[in-house]
This record gives sequence, C-alpha cells and structure tokens, in this order.
Amino acid sequence: MNAKRKIIIDCDPGIDDTLALMLALSSPELEVIGITVVCGNVPTDIGAENALKVLKFMGRLDIPVYCGEEAPLKRDYISAQDTHGMDGLGESNYPAVTETRAKKDAVNFLINTLKTQKNVSIIAVGPLTNIAKALQKNREVFKNLDEFISMGGSFKSHGNCSPVAEYNYWCDPDAARYVYENLPKKIHMVGLDVTRKIVLTPNILEYMQILDKEKGGFIKKITRFYYDFHWKYERVIGCVINDPLAVAYFINRELCSGFDSYTTVETEGISIGQSVTDSMDFWKKEPNSHVLTEVNQKEFMTMFLNRVFGEDEQEIRKILLQIM
Ligand code: RIB
Ligand code: CA
Repeated sequence: MNAKRKIIIDCDPGIDDTLALMLALSSPELEVIGITVVCGNVPTDIGAENALKVLKFMGRLDIPVYCGEEAPLKRDYISAQDTHGMDGLGESNYPAVTETRAKKDAVNFLINTLKTQKNVSIIAVGPLTNIAKALQKNREVFKNLDEFISMGGSFKSHGNCSPVAEYNYWCDPDAARYVYENLPKKIHMVGLDVTRKIVLTPNILEYMQILDKEKGGFIKKITRFYYDFHWKYERVIGCVINDPLAVAYFINRELCSGFDSYTTVETEGISIGQSVTDSMDFWKKEPNSHVLTEVNQKEFMTMFLNRVFGEDEQEIRKILLQIM
C-alpha cells in the first residue's frame, strides 16, 4: 500500500465536521497529524471540546487538537448553533473529555508543521480564519503544502446563509478572500453544488445502526437536532452532511468532477460571503481553484460506510440500491 498521506483537518465541530473526522480517522490512506479548531458552528473552545469528544469516541486521543482563532478577521462572529445546537453536537451533551486537553495556538501549529514537514495537506471544513492568519504570518511555508481542500462556497447552488452565501465563507468572508487570493496552491472548492447532494437519510441512518449499534447510535444522537433543523428550514427529510465529502474527495478524486477557474469571495454588501467563480474568464486571471460541480453520491456513501462501519463495499452497494 502507498504511504499514508499526512493531513491537518481545520474544522469547527460541528455535526458534519464530526462525520468528516470519523471518516478521516477510519481511512487507512490518511495520517491525521493534527486537528485545528476555528470559530464557526460553535465558539472555538466548544469546538475543541467536541473534537476531543470525537477523538475519544474513536479511540484516538493521541492526535493533538489545537484551539485557533476565536473571531473572524473583521466581521462580528456569528455562530451556527441554531443548526448544530448550543453544544455543537446536536444537544447530545456528551461529557467533556478529561484525559487530555486541547493545546493553544493553532496558527503556529500550522506554520511550524508546514515549515518542518513535507507532503502535508490541509482539509479545511470550517471558516478559513486560521488559514488566513497563518498565511498572513508566513506565506512562504505554504509553498511546502501538498494540497488544500476547502469545504465552502457555492458555484451555482443557492446559499445556506443568504440567497448566495455558504456559511464557512459567509462567517469570515475576509479570511476566505485572503486565502483564495494569496494561497500559493490551488484550492479544491468542495461547495454546496456537490455537498447538498450528500443527504444522511433516515434509511441510511437505520442501516448504520444495523451495521454497528454504537457508531450508528452515536451518529443518530448527534444528528437528531440537525434533522429537525433541515425539516423546519429546508423541508429535507434527513440532513445534508457537507464536510465528510471534503475528506472523501481528498481520498478519491473520482468521486467528484469540476473545473479549474479563478474564484474570489465578496466581503461586503448584500452578497457578502458569496464565492464568485469566473467560469467564463471575464477577468483573465490565472485559475486559483478547482471548483466541484458533480458528485457520485452512492460511491461517497459506499466509501463512508465501508471506512467507518467496516462493511464490504459490494454488500453496501446492494443495500444502497434499495435506499438511495
Ligand atoms: O455550510 C456548511 C459548512 O458550514 C459546514 O462545514 C458546516 O459544518 C459549517 O461549518
Ligand atoms: Ca464545518
């Protein structure tokens, strides 16, 4: 087997961030060398606590968690606790981890890791505040970065925070813009165009509990609040799980397709936080992003269930024929 790919997951756990962490920790292709937490779905300290809860559940408290920025670069901080619950895990209120504590200074962890280690990739599934701060502080080290994947933005799909803006880039538009305009690497934009198609339905949740009562029960407990939110505001039965697709795509690029283009982010006015992709090349700027537009939902779910629940892929595909 090829050498494991080293990744840092920058996140704001967060219900779907939790599923992204579970997938990454269950994937033999990946070595998670650290988790950095940013203010987003919940305040940073709560997000860090949740990252530790997930690591404990997965038996991986050996992986370090770092607290990052507690406010966006310029905007006032607005959480998504209406969607993820006050505790960020769907009001599941799992007990705090006591065996270890999160460390401070995610920004310096990012910089020092990129300075001292080659072939490290970053999968960012929250607002880009930590990344922007690290980039502002030391752009040079980001030339060592292997790949950068960002769950965020939207090319043609409507927003989830305004008619046009997706939460991660809306929460800190200045950070998002700074990263898109300064990162010396292409940004793989895993936006709402593809993530909206990844729905954890009641049938799939039922299948998870059949496969593994404990893991299925954990996911059911943290998604109940999210289900209610989705029905109330989006008339969706189930819940859109955005973040794990960023991890799955990093592992297998064939899950999604898209195109290279120049993307930036609006930082003011009624469309604040909107990602703007110049697909028709009006501005004649070098492409800085690979924007995803299509996804194979069944193959994503097959990977997630195979990795996290250990079920045989062929068996999973047979069942998904019934329920997807
Ligand atoms: O818009 C969806 C994104 O915002 C996801 O990453 C979710 O966890 C929130 O951070
Ligand atoms: Ca997130």
